[in-house]
Amino acid sequence: MATAAASNAPAASFTRGLEGVVAGETEICSVEQGALIYRGYEIHDLAQHATFEDVAFLLLVGHRASKDELRFFKDELIANRALPNQVVEYLRAAGPMLKDGTAVPMDVLRTAVSILGNMDKDAQKIDAEANLRKAKRLTAKIPTVIGHMQNIIDGRDLVGQETGGDANLSHAGNLYYMMTGKKPSAQYERTIDVSLILYAEHDYNASTFASRVIAGTLSDMHGAVTGAIAALKGPLHGGANEAAMDMLSEIRRDIGPANDKAKIEAWMHKAFAEKRKLMGFGHRVYKNGDHRAPILHGLGRKIAEAQGAEQVALFEMGEIVQAQMLREKNIHPNVDFPCGMTYFVMGIPVPQYTPIFVASRITGWAAHVMEQHANNRLIRPVSVYTGPALKKWKDA
Ligand SMILES: CC(C)(COP(=O)(O)OP(=O)(O)OC[C@H]1O[C@@H](n2cnc3c(N)ncnc32)[C@H](O)[C@@H]1OP(=O)(O)O)[C@@H](O)C(=O)NCCC(=O)NCCS
Repeated sequence: MATAAASNAPAASFTRGLEGVVAGETEICSVEQGALIYRGYEIHDLAQHATFEDVAFLLLVGHRASKDELRFFKDELIANRALPNQVVEYLRAAGPMLKDGTAVPMDVLRTAVSILGNMDKDAQKIDAEANLRKAKRLTAKIPTVIGHMQNIIDGRDLVGQETGGDANLSHAGNLYYMMTGKKPSAQYERTIDVSLILYAEHDYNASTFASRVIAGTLSDMHGAVTGAIAALKGPLHGGANEAAMDMLSEIRRDIGPANDKAKIEAWMHKAFAEKRKLMGFGHRVYKNGDHRAPILHGLGRKIAEAQGAEQVALFEMGEIVQAQMLREKNIHPNVDFPCGMTYFVMGIPVPQYTPIFVASRITGWAAHVMEQHANNRLIRPVSVYTGPALKKWKDA
C-alpha cells in the first residue's frame, strides 16, 4: 500500500498496480496458485482432453457443448473465416509499414479488428445474441487476418482468400496453414491447439480488464477487443512471448552456438546486475509457478526432440536460464517463456506470437464483454491527487 505524497492530499491509501484488489466477480475463470479453472474445468484436464473449439464454446456460450452444438459451432467458425475485401485491402496497404517496421503485426491486427467492427451488421448492438454472433465472427476471422498478414510479409499469394482456409482443418491447424501455406503435422496441430487452450482465458488480467472497462461504458464488442489488443501487446503482458524469444536469441548471439553453462550464467548475472526484467518470468498472481508453463514446455520440447540437436539446444538453454532464475531469484517462468521456444522450433515468425495469443484470448475477452454487458455497472475508480496546490489562473 502506498500513501498520497502531496502535502495537501487527503490521507488516502491505494495499491500500486491494483495488486490484490478485488475488482469484480466472474463466472468465467478462476486464477489461483492452486488451480486455473475455466467455468469449472481445470486447465490440465482441458489441455489433455479438450480442443480449442471445445474451450471456445465453453467460454463463449457458458457450458460444455453437446455433440450437435459443437458440430454446429465448428461449422459456424469455418463459414465465417473469410475476410471482407476491405480488410484484405487494408492488410495489403499495411504491407510496407510491416516491412519497414513502423507497424508490427499486433498494430495491424488491432486496426483490422477495428475495421471488421465498421463492417459488422451487429456492430452497434450489445444484446447477448448480437454479442455472441460478433464473438464467433471475430474468433473465426482473427486467424485469417494473421495468416494473410504473414503471407503479405513473406511476399506469398494469400492462402484461402475466398474460403478462409481449409474446411477440413481445425481452428489451430488452419491458423498454421493460413500463415505458411503448409498443412501442419498432427503434432504441430495439437501443440498449437493446446497453446490456444492455455491462452484462452485468465480472469481480470490487464487486457481483459481493459475490455471490461470499455464494455462497462456500454461501448461495443469490437471496440472492447481493439482496446484489449492494445493492452495485450505490451511486453509485461502478452508481448512477453515475443520478448522471451528475443531474449533467448540475444543470449545465443552473445554466448555463441554451444550451451556453455558458465557463459549463460554469466550473462544472467550481468542482467541481474543491470536490474533487467527477464521476459517470460514472474507473474502477478502465480508467485510459485504458472500452471500453463510446464504443459507447453513439455509439448515444445517434444517437437524440438523430433527435429534434432540444434532445436533441443534452445530448450536446454531455456532450462539453464529457468533453473538459475529459480535458484537465485526464486522467480518461475510464466507460459510465455515456453511459448516463445515452442513457436520458434515450429518456424513461426516471432512477431506473430502475440497475434496468435489474440487468436485464442479473443474468446476470453468476448466472454468477459458479454458478462459485463449482462450485469453492468460503470467501472470508474478514483485516484489520489499528487499535483500542485490550488493556484489562481489570473495571477500567473
Ligand atoms: C509479470 C510481471 C509484470 C509481474 O509483476 P509484479 O507482480 O508487479 O511483480 P514485481 O515487479 O512486483 O516483482 C517482484 C520482484 O521480482 C522481480 N521480478 C519480477 N519479475 C521479474 C523478471 N521477469 N525478471 C527479473 N526480476 C523480476 C521484480 O524486479 C521485483 O524485485 P524487487 O522486489 O527487488 O523490486 C513481472 O514479473 C514482469 O515484468 N515479468 C516479465 C514480463 C512477463 O513475462 N510478462 C508476462 C506475464 S504472464
